[in-house]
Amino acid sequence: MKKAMLISAAVLALAGCKAGDPQLGKDSIDKVLKAMTLEEKVHFVIGTGMAGASGESAVVGATKKIVPGAAGTTYPVERLGIPSIVLADGPAGLRIDPTREGDENTYYCTHFPIGTLLASTWNQELVENVGKAMGEEVHEYGADVYLAPALNIHRNPLNGRNFEYYSEDPVVAGKTAAAYVRGVQSNDVGTSIKHFAYNNQETNRTGNNAVISPRAQREIYLKGFEITVKESDPWTVMSSYNKINGTYTSQSKDLLTTVLRDEWGFKGLVMTDWYGGDNGAEQIAAGNDMLQPGTDLQYEQIMAALQDGSLSEAELDVCVRRCLELVARSPKARGYAYSNKPDLKAHAAVTRQSALEGMVLLENKGVLPLKDVKNVAVFGCTSFDFIAGGTGSGNVNRAYTVSLLDGLKNAGFNVNESDKEATLKHIADEAAAFKASLPDDGLSAFYPMPRPSEFVPAPARLAASAQANDVAIITFGRNSGEFFDRTSADFVLSAKERELLDKVTAAFHAKGKKVVVVLNIGGVIETASWKNVPDAVLLAWQAGQEGGNSVTDILTGAKSPSGKLPMTFPVNLMDAGSSANFPIDSETGVYFTNRREDVGQKDVDVTKYEEGIYVGYRWFDKKELPVSYPFGYGLSYTTFAYSAPAVANDGKTVTARVTVQNTGSVAGKEAVQLYVSAPAGTLDKPVKELKAYGKTKELAPGESQELTLTFPTSELASFDEEASAWKVDAGTYTFLFGASSRDIRCTATAEAAASETPAHRVLLMK
Ligand code: BGC
Repeated sequence: MKKAMLISAAVLALAGCKAGDPQLGKDSIDKVLKAMTLEEKVHFVIGTGMAGASGESAVVGATKKIVPGAAGTTYPVERLGIPSIVLADGPAGLRIDPTREGDENTYYCTHFPIGTLLASTWNQELVENVGKAMGEEVHEYGADVYLAPALNIHRNPLNGRNFEYYSEDPVVAGKTAAAYVRGVQSNDVGTSIKHFAYNNQETNRTGNNAVISPRAQREIYLKGFEITVKESDPWTVMSSYNKINGTYTSQSKDLLTTVLRDEWGFKGLVMTDWYGGDNGAEQIAAGNDMLQPGTDLQYEQIMAALQDGSLSEAELDVCVRRCLELVARSPKARGYAYSNKPDLKAHAAVTRQSALEGMVLLENKGVLPLKDVKNVAVFGCTSFDFIAGGTGSGNVNRAYTVSLLDGLKNAGFNVNESDKEATLKHIADEAAAFKASLPDDGLSAFYPMPRPSEFVPAPARLAASAQANDVAIITFGRNSGEFFDRTSADFVLSAKERELLDKVTAAFHAKGKKVVVVLNIGGVIETASWKNVPDAVLLAWQAGQEGGNSVTDILTGAKSPSGKLPMTFPVNLMDAGSSANFPIDSETGVYFTNRREDVGQKDVDVTKYEEGIYVGYRWFDKKELPVSYPFGYGLSYTTFAYSAPAVANDGKTVTARVTVQNTGSVAGKEAVQLYVSAPAGTLDKPVKELKAYGKTKELAPGESQELTLTFPTSELASFDEEASAWKVDAGTYTFLFGASSRDIRCTATAEAAASETPAHRVLLMK
């Protein structure tokens, strides 16, 4: 007994505790909160600052403490038993440093497929499993909150961070994010759904004012977050950098309290994006509970506001309480003894499997799956150096990336490996020259490498290659990332890429051989002008560290492709409604937050979302524009028939049923989309809107499955700005069962009664 008392006294002394101080985890949050000094409270709502920010690891949000390379930590108050918890990026896997000073172990993480690929699977169960594997790495490497998923809407094809995001459609974005959150959080670690909200361009991302109508906000930009909050209960939300109708999102009480908490019932914590906003006191008052990574200026702003009465201690306490609740539920506070040994082998298998289900077969003139092929000629620099994912905080320090070349070799094909060394040297030389050309702003780690310039083999070499090989595969790669939007030049094939495509195709066709193009890209590119040149086009996205193996599994037919596009591929960039108001090629080509040359340019400081709710297919449908590939599109090696459509509405839930049969000769899965077309009412309505979707299991030839798709009847509503209410018009609704948004296979109708759900009159345009 005496000994035990001695030990606990020693522990208290070590931790700087005074006997009698309440302890988080043992005593109630109320007691702990009451025991905190004002200074402790203000420190606590601010992170611990950016360790290493001015040092060599100039990655936004790097902290060398606890888990090196994690983005941030919370402020510890040892005397009250409040530990520092670790916040680390995502979303394509955990981002921490792979090596540590004086430590021979390695801390690699699995690079899973990019968000856009996960959304392209249209498979919520699969996404949940990927989340589960990611969450295990978060847990076992000692992090507490995973700064993912990212679910902003693909408003324009050129947003540099689209690869992290899911879709142009809020239902796909919300359902995918919800599945991801459920998976990650099943490990008892937290997520942070980001960037809340309207973070649809990187150009001037920390200052841009997005001017958006309340209806477009509610129906398009907020809807995915609403679905995620309601269906998965994320521990935290990360506010975005930008402003909404004149106010920083992190300083908007309308957004962070009225909509997020009062209307949607969110119970967790809101944190800023790193250095987001410009007034710490306003952030606290708005309900932005934690400021990351934390600055002295924010401390001063909050203290000053408390002193002059513009912020009350009661308002501060609301945020402090939420921070305490977050810390209390963390693995760190629960004393979890992490192993630093997640099951990387098992997760490599997870990423390989999931990646192949999100690849989208765009064209196939009878060449895929490859048959009677032994010798394969690969072209395009990226074939030798596959891109696993995008750059910036969404990058992952992986142990390896399987290239297409290696994937093909692993499957037993003979490939032109002799070209590998020269190609890799060419890529490295160009990368080094590019790096040397960068301004000395300490952020060179963030600049996405421009694609390597292609070389086109001489005619004699091409002819010999076509003679010696059974098929040609050309990979075109694109990379992008945080801070930068893509350019219109990046959107199209370069002259050299086009020349490579034309010449390889001519040489192989001359010998009666086929050509396949693989797109190793993170965002939409122009395809209409060249897609009919090769014999097949496979959109592989950026498929994580096992990319080359996953592509090969599709090429060989080990699995039939079943991915479908979560966005539209327009014929021209300027066809997209948002392109009229997007910083396409602002003066510097790309625009970096620290450079202010572009100030005053249209869509740099202020972006007016004049297309309103008409984003993606809603726009192309309304304008009746041709597209290169419609939303929801994707081919398979087999075919499917839809039958027996039925829809019932009981006033609470719409339940739709359809039977899908595999009518082809190989096994495959089919993603089925349920769109609704509303009766004419008072508001302008899209031609159709996605309301639910599902995927069959793998159906054997001839096999059928009935899919049941449900959604709340209230989701038939549109947002009426004048009434500030969600309104369902009475009448007959048509439900469209689609293989894509432009391939509707069957329909059914159901009646709905009128209803009106009031919402707060907030977030108005000024
Ligand atoms: C990004 C966030 C990220 C944070 C921490 C910011 O630059 O926008 O997505 O979570 O850094 O690294």
